[in-house]
Amino acid sequence: MCGIVGVLGSHEAAPILVDALKRLEYRGYDSAGIATVNGGTLDRRRAVGKLVNLSDLLVHEPLAGKSGIGHTRWATHGAPTIGNAHPHQAGPVAVVHNGIIENFRELRAELADKGISFTTETDTETIALMTQAFMADGLSPVDAAEATLAQLDGAFALAFLFEGEEDLMVAARKGSPLAIGHGEGEMFVGSDAIALAPMTDKITYLEEGDWAVLTRTSLVIRDAQGELANREMRTIRMDDARVDKGGHKHFMSKEIAEQPRVIGEAVRHYLSDDGNAVALPGDLDFTQIDRMTMVACGTAYYACLTAKYWFEQLAQMPVEVDIASEFRYREPPIPARTVALFVSQSGETADTLAALRYCDGKADKILSVVNVPESSIARESDLALPILAGAEIGVASTKAFTCQLTVLLMMALKAAEQRGTLTPERLSDLLSALRALPNTLNTALEQDGNIANAARKLSEASDVLFLGRGLMYPLALEGALKLKEISYIHAEAYASGELKHGPIALIDKHLPVVVMAPRDGLFDKTVSNMQEVLARGGKVMLVTDAEGTVEAAGDAWQTITLPAIDPVLSPILYAVPAQLLAYHTAVAKGTDVDQPRNLAKSVTVE
Ligand code: F6R
Repeated sequence: MCGIVGVLGSHEAAPILVDALKRLEYRGYDSAGIATVNGGTLDRRRAVGKLVNLSDLLVHEPLAGKSGIGHTRWATHGAPTIGNAHPHQAGPVAVVHNGIIENFRELRAELADKGISFTTETDTETIALMTQAFMADGLSPVDAAEATLAQLDGAFALAFLFEGEEDLMVAARKGSPLAIGHGEGEMFVGSDAIALAPMTDKITYLEEGDWAVLTRTSLVIRDAQGELANREMRTIRMDDARVDKGGHKHFMSKEIAEQPRVIGEAVRHYLSDDGNAVALPGDLDFTQIDRMTMVACGTAYYACLTAKYWFEQLAQMPVEVDIASEFRYREPPIPARTVALFVSQSGETADTLAALRYCDGKADKILSVVNVPESSIARESDLALPILAGAEIGVASTKAFTCQLTVLLMMALKAAEQRGTLTPERLSDLLSALRALPNTLNTALEQDGNIANAARKLSEASDVLFLGRGLMYPLALEGALKLKEISYIHAEAYASGELKHGPIALIDKHLPVVVMAPRDGLFDKTVSNMQEVLARGGKVMLVTDAEGTVEAAGDAWQTITLPAIDPVLSPILYAVPAQLLAYHTAVAKGTDVDQPRNLAKSVTVE
């Protein structure tokens, strides 16, 4: 949510900044801007809308200088206008900011009392103006930035650039991630290592409360108490930082297609060497745990809802699942022998992180399932299990969801093994099905053409209903979320059994109803619900792996047939048609698939 970047380089900064912003654009795309210092002059360029508008502007109005900062914005305070776009400049200082300054109204009032006036509606302008005021009082740029940072409440990552200081940058992290990149006589700052990948693979992550003074050849980090801090420099895997569409039209379609591979890697990672048991890191003992509380947002929340069925059915372990934004303020009691589990692709989602902090000291253990191992959620957990999906750039989560499901299922199987709730034969069958999953997913991906045809029809609808029972209920919710977020078609999901309790009133010949019906123990009941829809003229799009279901369904409008699978694994398989349906519907509607309106990946504000 907002991406920031900084360069103290040996080449012109503007193209480097724009390229880095391109790699951060998934974090926000309402507006973008850069500032550079050149021979003492601090100047900036900003443009509303996608980054390409800034690139175009720079062709006509280039910005020289080898030191600079840049920003891609997801608007919080103030509409996406040029005036509200970052960098914010006040006299000799320019600032880029990711996050929210919670006390900015108080700070603004203090500045207004001193006769300082404002030109934007943003919280960030306050930071630039305060730093300028401290500098006007005689403080050095670094001291002025430090004095400003001491005044700020909230969650932020910041980079400061100063007029006349071509070899100086100040960066700070509180609540939003920030990576420092080390080059040869160059230094970089970025919201993540991916942004910096073309420049360097040597990364130092700032920790919570850290702030840093950078020159081309030095990095001095202080912690929240102002003490000098020694933070490890790591070499990151360049594979993890590759950001290209690999020949696909969109990142989303590439990420859907990658699922057999990344899920195969995740399965192998969490299997014992002989492949016959689940091997989790750490010393997790599910016999010492009475219940689990799982907390997440959005798609990750639906992964948790699915996992609840698995942990309860396979391991006989009670599970509660909560939306992080509700959980964090509800102040729920956490009984003894409870493990709290947080699921997050980015590992930076503000509400999920706050929920984790609420549980810290109350739950027996804090676990997380994350895609970014260096993320705050991973670092603040007792044990973080990586999902190994690789960088996910499409704003709509796809491969991260199925990798989350895979890891959660493997955890549930481990719990079942330890608690003795599954026979060795059943456990072995499920592990075989997991090992075969990449092939099964490849077969499902072959339905791409059929699903694209079905999606063209779906794209004419204004509302769509998704139905599923049991493990397919969370998947129906995920299918509806995927469709609405990228195609902007209103979609809702219900547990099939709930249909008669209200939503059936919506059924008419205009309403497509997507029914997820694997051949599981609830199949006949789902088919009955589907008949109720058909009897009222509803248009059923049936997704199934069961032979003969089409006859059972009567006049299904569309049918998508998947390979047969052990019902326990069906959510991972059925995610594929749900994703492809949303993807092709969005393509048919001509929406911006990878960067849907109003959204951003990594929601670091609440
Ligand atoms: C939807 C989507 C979001 C995220 C949610 C949580 O496609 O991606 O709903 O799942 O914002 O994000 P993470 O997993 O990063 O905590």
